[in-house]
Amino acid sequence: PVSKDKDALSTVAPYACQRQTPLIHHNSKITDALEILGKAASFQGSEVRSLAFARAASVLKSLPCKLQSIEEAKNLVWCGGHCQTVIQEILEDGVCHEVEVLKNSEQYQCMELLTSIFGVGVRTAERWYNDGVRKLSDLADLHIKLTAEQKAGIEHYTDLKQPVTRDEAERVESLITRALDRFVPGLRITMTGGFRRGKQQGHDVDFLITHPDEEALNGLLEKSVNWMDSQGLLLYHHTKARSHVQTRRRSTHMDGHETCYAIFALPNHDSLKAESGDFTSSGACRWRAVRVDLVVAPYEEYPYALLGWTGSKHFERELRRFSWHEKNLSLNSHGLYNVEKECSIPATSEEEIFVLLGLQYVPPPYRNA
Ligand code: CTP
Ligand code: MN
Ligand code: MN
Ligand code: MN
Repeated sequence: PVSKDKDALSTVAPYACQRQTPLIHHNSKITDALEILGKAASFQGSEVRSLAFARAASVLKSLPCKLQSIEEAKNLVWCGGHCQTVIQEILEDGVCHEVEVLKNSEQYQCMELLTSIFGVGVRTAERWYNDGVRKLSDLADLHIKLTAEQKAGIEHYTDLKQPVTRDEAERVESLITRALDRFVPGLRITMTGGFRRGKQQGHDVDFLITHPDEEALNGLLEKSVNWMDSQGLLLYHHTKARSHVQTRRRSTHMDGHETCYAIFALPNHDSLKAESGDFTSSGACRWRAVRVDLVVAPYEEYPYALLGWTGSKHFERELRRFSWHEKNLSLNSHGLYNVEKECSIPATSEEEIFVLLGLQYVPPPYRNA
């Protein structure tokens, strides 16, 4: 078995979309460390270094066994000198000094706190940090100007910080299914994102919505979101309109689907019972805030949207990089484009997209790159 494992280590495919990456893997101590280094790099504005750590972590996640020695890591693709040092330290001491120092630094901790607010990216967090923000209450004390999204994110911070369970995700699913059904019957509603990849919890719940009749989708999101709002189910919502076809042709970064970013007031399991007078613990909360993304895709773009919104983010990035560099095709969540011939390549399923790209099909539970 040793030689077989060694073989597996030196033959890891270079693109994450060429590999199977399960949710539970054998090297999480090392990948956690590499991901902290990647996050710190992105906090410092270095996307290139951040990506390098993400790539190395992703390679380790796909390994069939636990790394036993630094020798085994020597031939791993994307694992350069810096990563080798991290791996060696963790194998020998159980921790990596650089990572421990980072984790305990004020800047890392603040950036982690601030970027965990809904509507706050690295740039905003950095600006606030430079303005002297160190904790959430500083935002009000320092009279920091906030967007509506950020205000909602701070107001519901404690709830949103708590991971969404699969049970909660399923309750959100039945709520939105009922709401959407009121306006258009026969919709296809699919839970995408981390839950589709088999995660037991997530930071939000993602849904993709489509219908064979494209007309049926017109105005659907607005109507159903307004209805849910009128029912008191929404704490925040912002809908981004579908962007123009022309701008969607080439870019591998573009995602122009109509999307609603929302915070739901998800009623508790027992809230119905509570309303019928069976309410014992006074003051108990009847709902909790949950982040939800709703994406509407035209039927012919559905397989591409499904592939694009299932993730992981790194898997998506790698799929697009593979398409562009290895196949000369531009992939996004609307379609696959031959830029030279200026034509799009239709597909009716995710499986078909993998065939078009000359890739072996990777089922969602193995896209946890
Ligand atoms: N996505 C996207 N465009 C956005 C936001 C997200 O295409 N503006 C895609 C991401 O690339 C990812 C999927 O939507 O493939 C889900 O993103 P997200 O909800 O952020 O992450 P999850 O993988 O679902 O993980 P989590 O459990 O943290 O939600
Ligand atoms: Mn998600
Ligand atoms: Mn999401
Ligand atoms: Mn409203």
